[in-house]
Amino acid sequence: MRCRRLKHTALVSLVLVLLSVINAVAAIEFVYPAPFSWVAKPGHMIVKFNQVNITAARITLNGLASEMIDVGSPEYLKLFQDYFIAQSLWDNGRNNLTIDLFRSGQRIESASTTIYYTGGDSTSRVPPEFSSNTLHTPDKERMCLPCHNMNPTPAQMNSNVEKNNPCFGCHKKMLSVKYVHGPAGTYSCGYCHSNKGTPKHAVPKRGAALCYECHADMALQLKKRSFVHGPVEAGMCEACHDSHGSGSESQLIKPVNELCISCHGHIRTTAHVVRIPTGEGHPLSGKPDPAKKGTGREMSCISCHNPHGGDVRYFFVNAAEDRMALCQMCHNK
Ligand code: HEC
Ligand code: HEC
Ligand code: HEC
Ligand code: HEC
Ligand code: HEC
Ligand code: HEC
Ligand code: HEC
Ligand code: HEC
Repeated sequence: MRCRRLKHTALVSLVLVLLSVINAVAAIEFVYPAPFSWVAKPGHMIVKFNQVNITAARITLNGLASEMIDVGSPEYLKLFQDYFIAQSLWDNGRNNLTIDLFRSGQRIESASTTIYYTGGDSTSRVPPEFSSNTLHTPDKERMCLPCHNMNPTPAQMNSNVEKNNPCFGCHKKMLSVKYVHGPAGTYSCGYCHSNKGTPKHAVPKRGAALCYECHADMALQLKKRSFVHGPVEAGMCEACHDSHGSGSESQLIKPVNELCISCHGHIRTTAHVVRIPTGEGHPLSGKPDPAKKGTGREMSCISCHNPHGGDVRYFFVNAAEDRMALCQMCHNK
């Protein structure tokens, strides 16, 4: 009696397991970002339909529906099978994402999830129901292996021939910016990223320890300076520079004034340097920089302050000894 009941439950659970396996295979799968995860940078959205004979798909993001996307043509199927890979366009905060699949005009399946996008803000504000997100894990990479080289040799990771470097193949978007950092521009991904790291492709050295390997001259120069800027002293090069590139000169993570003000907020709210009759401070942007005539450079924080440090307090440019010497650089008439 006991035995028969056991067998029965075993059978029931076996059937349940089988059903859930079938379900898992048949359902639309959000590969990246994973369902209810958060992302810090715009990147890719990767979905596997797990359905055959689909003719079209429609993506709805925060209520905005895409056109019908042809995912059923022989050309498409030959290249991507039932995968859908797109650049993501997240809004800040919660993103409600729905995928609808169609077969000959008939909607046959629909799936939804929510992704949280930090938009570069601190991750401490991410609501607890969202988890972090990694692509280069063994289970996800297994899905890509049939079509992509997921385990390139060190030589391939550093190949400056586009088609030979699989890292570049999937990450080209991050290099299509105005200012690209030297070694990223030559696709030397393997110099900074280790193919043995945990998680995979982690960067074993960070900040000054990494940067000074190639910018040793800067380390030497800073040693001689009497005043070194706080975050530079702390080795936090990545607080200001992106290792790959950005839309701002010197690969700054934000336009320079915005960057400085992100840590020195009071400069925006108090009159800086002088108080002119209107109550405003010294112009800090929007005017040509008279000390850099012919370069097209505008006034900014670095017109007067060296960003890394200097020989005088406040790291005035040209090692101007005091306010007067600084003012005279541009107001010498
Ligand atoms: C059925 C084959 C196939 C599978 C499986 C596949 N891809 Fe691709 N993928 C392609 C093809 C084809 C391209 C376009 C050619 C290229 O850029 O290499 C591509 C391009 C890409 C791109 C570049 C898109 C862009 O922005 O230009 C990314 C990123 C990518 N795939 C990620 C993945 C990931 C991650 C996986 C595994 C989860 C995966 N793919 C699985 C075929 C596939
Ligand atoms: C099949 C495409 C593909 C290939 C090949 C690939 N990546 Fe990725 N990688 C991705 C995608 C997709 C993400 C998620 C971020 C995004 O959407 O771009 C990612 C994320 C990452 C991350 C963030 C951590 C993580 O795992 O999510 C790092 C670091 C990274 N890739 C480095 C590399 C390096 C270095 C190489 C070459 C050895 C490489 N990738 C090759 C598609 C690829
Ligand atoms: C000068 C060093 C350096 C080089 C060269 C470099 N990276 Fe990175 N990469 C980094 C650092 C530092 C991070 C930040 C790691 C982190 O946040 O965990 C990073 C992060 C990433 C990420 C995660 C997303 C992001 O932007 O934070 C991806 C993807 C990535 N690198 C791809 C590449 C690819 C592809 C190449 C080659 C074309 C490359 N990297 C070359 C230093 C480098
Ligand atoms: C593998 C060597 C290497 C590493 C590591 C490296 N760099 Fe560079 N960096 C270069 C090269 C090469 C250039 C281009 C040189 C040039 O054009 O003057 C460059 C250029 C730069 C520039 C722009 C210089 C200019 O005149 O516009 C900045 C800023 C910079 N690197 C910052 C960093 C930071 C921050 C790090 C650490 C996250 C770092 N680098 C790590 C090799 C490296
Ligand atoms: C507070 C922000 C900030 C930090 C932190 C910072 N930098 Fe910079 N860096 C800048 C700015 C702004 C410029 C552009 C200077 C200019 O154009 O006059 C720059 C320029 C550079 C340059 C190119 C020109 C030059 O001065 O040689 C290199 C290389 C560089 N930084 C490397 C580093 C390294 C390495 C670190 C970490 C030890 C670091 N930076 C930390 C803001 C910063
Ligand atoms: C990541 C945060 C951060 C960024 C970004 C940053 N700073 Fe700083 N800065 C600090 C810290 C920390 C100190 C040292 C503590 C202090 O004196 O306030 C400092 C000190 C200074 C000082 C000296 C203050 C004094 O009383 O001696 C000046 C001047 C300065 N920063 C200017 C700048 C400029 C210009 C930029 C943009 C190129 C910038 N900072 C970007 C964090 C930052
Ligand atoms: C026209 C030259 C000039 C420009 C441009 C300038 N500063 Fe200053 N800054 C000074 C002088 C001069 C001082 C010394 C204190 C004083 O006399 O007001 C100073 C002091 C500072 C200090 C230390 C004193 C304090 O108030 O905390 C910080 C931080 C600072 N500046 C940040 C910035 C930032 C951020 C920007 C860009 C938004 C900027 N400065 C643009 C001239 C300038
Ligand atoms: C890097 C160049 C530079 C430095 C250094 C500089 N200034 Fe200026 N200053 C300017 C520019 C550019 C303007 C805007 C002129 C215009 O409106 O055409 C300006 C405007 C002014 C004005 C407002 C004039 C008006 O009528 O609108 C005053 C006051 C002033 N500066 C005082 C100073 C003082 C005091 C110092 C030294 C602490 C100083 N400046 C350092 C570039 C500089």
